[in-house]
Amino acid sequence: MSIRVRELSEALGAEVLDFDPSVPMDTATAREVREIWLQYGILLFRGVDWTLAQHIAFTESFGELHIMPRLATEVPVNLQQHPEIFVVSNIEKDGKPIGVKRAGWGWHSDGEDKRVPNMASMLYGIKTPEVGGDTGFASTYRAYDALPPKTKERLDGKLARFSRVEMHLVNYPNLPPLTEAEKRDRPYVWHPVVRTHPETQRKCLYIGRWAVEIEGIPGDEGRELIDDLTAHISKPEFTYIHKWRPGDVVFWDNRCTQHCAIPYDDSKEDRYMLRTTLEGDTPFHLAEDGRRVESFLVSPLEV
Ligand code: OGA
Ligand code: MN
Repeated sequence: MSIRVRELSEALGAEVLDFDPSVPMDTATAREVREIWLQYGILLFRGVDWTLAQHIAFTESFGELHIMPRLATEVPVNLQQHPEIFVVSNIEKDGKPIGVKRAGWGWHSDGEDKRVPNMASMLYGIKTPEVGGDTGFASTYRAYDALPPKTKERLDGKLARFSRVEMHLVNYPNLPPLTEAEKRDRPYVWHPVVRTHPETQRKCLYIGRWAVEIEGIPGDEGRELIDDLTAHISKPEFTYIHKWRPGDVVFWDNRCTQHCAIPYDDSKEDRYMLRTTLEGDTPFHLAEDGRRVESFLVSPLEV
């Protein structure tokens, strides 16, 4: 089979045409979809009408499912009957949220605050607003490639410290603070700032909104550099902004892209999105001379 695609932007993304992801794929088709996914970083399927089981099955053809951990608070994260499905929504029922509100408002890749971040995520739009509620996607390959050679040299092989604990209330001001138990579960993690993609071997810029420090660069200067790099990643030339329609499925590679739920007036219209997530592997940087740097955790006892 030869799959037809339409490019979504100069930087990344392709819409897969004449393809129904609810139908089980044979091995050759699965291989071909994976190839175009690796090439474009994100794939869009439109007009999808599927069951939860079909959503799960299509996701599983790319890897091992990840179940999002519960929050210590009352906020539900996953569908009760289907813990494989994470709910992103502003809807409340009987005064209680039915999913995570304002998830991903800010550029990030999923699971970047963990030692083993998530490889990929697949978001299905069911109720999508007429005005706003778009999602931005950025190619971190492009962002890396476009850095001045001096900055590349400065960053290649360096690690950055990501801290959920320090950034939780900055990134989620609407959520309750982390409990002591949650803090213990979320130690610091150091990730290579320049990550080698394990399948394409290309380099990408791996920094995000949980990053607080870069190895060998003093406090404020490091934070400024993190802000500059974050702003750099989301420049229009590296991004694609997706305007959702009900029935859209976007499948993104967290290893070489970032995404952002673009803030909008969420008091006006309902937005209801279901996400499946895949397990990943430990990020690494592989230098030309073969030196390899890997992500590692710092246990709270050592901090
Ligand atoms: C996510 C996420 C963005 C959005 O589900 O991981 O960041 O636009 N969502 O809902
Ligand atoms: Mn996200």
